[in-house]
Amino acid sequence: TAGNSTNIVWHKCTVDKQDRERLLQQKGCVIWITGLSGSGKSTVACALSQGLHLRGKLTYILDGDNVRHGLNRDLGFNAEDRAENIRRIAEVAKLFADAGIICIASLISPYRKDRDACRALFPEGDFIEVFMDVPLNVCENRDPKGLYKLARAGKIKGFTGVDDPYEPPLKCEIVLQQTERDCVSPSNMAETVISYLEEKGYLQ
Ligand code: PPS
Repeated sequence: TAGNSTNIVWHKCTVDKQDRERLLQQKGCVIWITGLSGSGKSTVACALSQGLHLRGKLTYILDGDNVRHGLNRDLGFNAEDRAENIRRIAEVAKLFADAGIICIASLISPYRKDRDACRALFPEGDFIEVFMDVPLNVCENRDPKGLYKLARAGKIKGFTGVDDPYEPPLKCEIVLQQTERDCVSPSNMAETVISYLEEKGYLQ
């Protein structure tokens, strides 16, 4: 829907998504990486971008933490603001995908209904959900930014996994699993995603 905008008409141009995809020799899509803070979303996003770039594919990363410095700087972490953060990033990702770019979105996106709403914005197959399946205690032991410590001390309220829920996907395209004993490298994880893209014809 057009929200509050009225009297607006979609303008269509003669150069379309397919033309851009032919030029780039790839298919535009979004790889949506969801998972707890410290689960390795940004690291895998980066490894994936690097791996695809080396194969001559154009990518762009939208990282929750980074987008919150600009476009989403007005948003906090209550449920409503997280939903809006996720919605805006999905809309931007949709523009990137329409440009023919492989857009990698990495954000906690903790609520299933918000992720499902993003999926609904994309044509079938173009929303590729990747779940960083890493146990909370592993993320908490890593605590790269010291935020779990602050959350446990009550200095951050509503922290995902501590006093705000994370709802894992019930069904998603790719699960990247990490356990306490089993350590998979980010580049191996990126390769799993690249194989999926190859198999589905996104790399042409
Ligand atoms: S969300 O839930 O998708 O809107 O979150 P996202 O945009 O990915 O931002 C998560 C990063 O913000 C920091 N941070 C918090 N995370 C979770 N809960 C609370 N309350 C919170 N406050 C700040 C944290 O550094 C997250 O970064 P990552 O990269 O996930 O560790």
